[in-house]
Parts: sequence; C-alpha cells; structure tokens
Amino acid sequence: MTQGVAPAGPGPCRMVVMASGAGTNLQALLDAEAAGRLGGQIAAVLSDRPGAGALERARAAGKPAILLRPAGDWDRAVLDELARWQPDLVVLAGFMRLLGPAVVAAYRNRILNIHPSLLPAFPGKDAPRRALEHGVKVTGCTVHFVDEGVDTGPILLQAAVPVRDGDDPQTLHRRIQRVEHRLYPAAVRLVATGRVRLEGRRVRILKGPSGGRGAGPRPGAPVREGGVAG
Ligand code: GRF
Repeated sequence: MTQGVAPAGPGPCRMVVMASGAGTNLQALLDAEAAGRLGGQIAAVLSDRPGAGALERARAAGKPAILLRPAGDWDRAVLDELARWQPDLVVLAGFMRLLGPAVVAAYRNRILNIHPSLLPAFPGKDAPRRALEHGVKVTGCTVHFVDEGVDTGPILLQAAVPVRDGDDPQTLHRRIQRVEHRLYPAAVRLVATGRVRLEGRRVRILKGPSGGRGAGPRPGAPVREGGVAG
C-alpha cells in the first residue's frame, strides 16, 4: 500500500525538533529554515537534558526551548507537550530517550530520526565506535522514519562516509556529523514539501516541481563522502 506522509495541513509544515545533546543537527535545521531551505517552520525545540546545547541554540534562534523532565508517565508528558505545538512532523536530532508506542502510534510516519551509521548496520548507541571496532571501510548516516523498534523504521536517505586508518570514535563521528548536517535538512525538506511516499518499508521520493531527479544519486554512481543515496 502506498501512503503519503506529513505534511497534514495546507499551510507550511510545522515541526518540533527534539534533541538531547550539543544540537549541531538542530543548528543545521535552524540555518536551513533561516535560509528558506527547510520547507517548513520549526515551532519549538524540546529536550530532556537541562544543560543541552540544543536548548541554547533554540533560544538563540528565537524558538521556544522546552525542557521535558523524564518523570512519571513519560509518553503522556511527550504527547501533552507535542499537542501544544500541533506539529505535522517531529524531528529527532540526537534525542537520547526512546519514544514509547503511544507516541509512535500518535505520530505514525511523522517522526524522523538521524542515526550515525548506514542502517541496518550498527543500530543503537555508540554506532561510530562499533563501526570502527568491526573494521568497516565505509560507514555513514541514515535518516529514517521512527517505528516501535530501535533504528528500525523505513529509510528515507543515506549518505556514505569513509573510515580512515587513523580514526578514533570521535574523529569518525565528527566526519559523519559534517555529512549529517547536509543530509538532515535535505531529508526534512523532502517530507515537509510532500515529496515522500511509503510503500511498505520502501520510501519513494517523488520528483520535485522542477521535474529534477531529487536527492537520489545516479544509479551506479560511485560512493563518495557524503554522496546521498535516497
Ligand atoms: C548525531 O550524530 C546523530 O546522528 C545522533 O546523535 C548525534 C547528535 O549530535 N542521533 P548533535 O547533538 O546534533 O550535535
């Protein structure tokens, strides 16, 4: 069955970004919005960590920055907060706490996540370290829809990043993040502008208004750093 995904309404796509950490991906999304490249507007930023750099970045950009403390019924708290902002799309950008089945069900096919590996390899925590320890030569990042599993939802876009001989987990993660900062705004824009269809697990990207070929590579194009495969 083919399913359209967000945006739900006729206006610009409303987004809530959820982030626990430094917020460099959030920053890339804020910058894309400011440059008119996001295809929608970030209504609010939620975090579960009081000192998160993401909250600072949100405030600096003039966005509501909300701290959600994990206590009591976490899913209920998330649902109530999201209901205040009525997002078409929820964008997880380094959000370290799992969203429960009630949240996933309420926002089915409307939650995106970015993960620092080429899924389905290395789901879960410490993906760059585990990729390094496994000895892969190429890793990367994946933007996917969130389902009930850990990093298991349908894949929207991926980009490859080479592993270098001298890498440690930090240098590799930083190289991946530089690519994430281009991939995530591009992926969000595709969804926000209604160019994404789901066919079971497979995500189909419709041609843009210009009739261009979208974010995907030429079939058979060589893998290069940050080469987007969607
Ligand atoms: C990113 O590498 C992302 O892939 C992972 O968490 C990290 C968040 O980094 N899910 P930042 O807070 O956006 O800098």
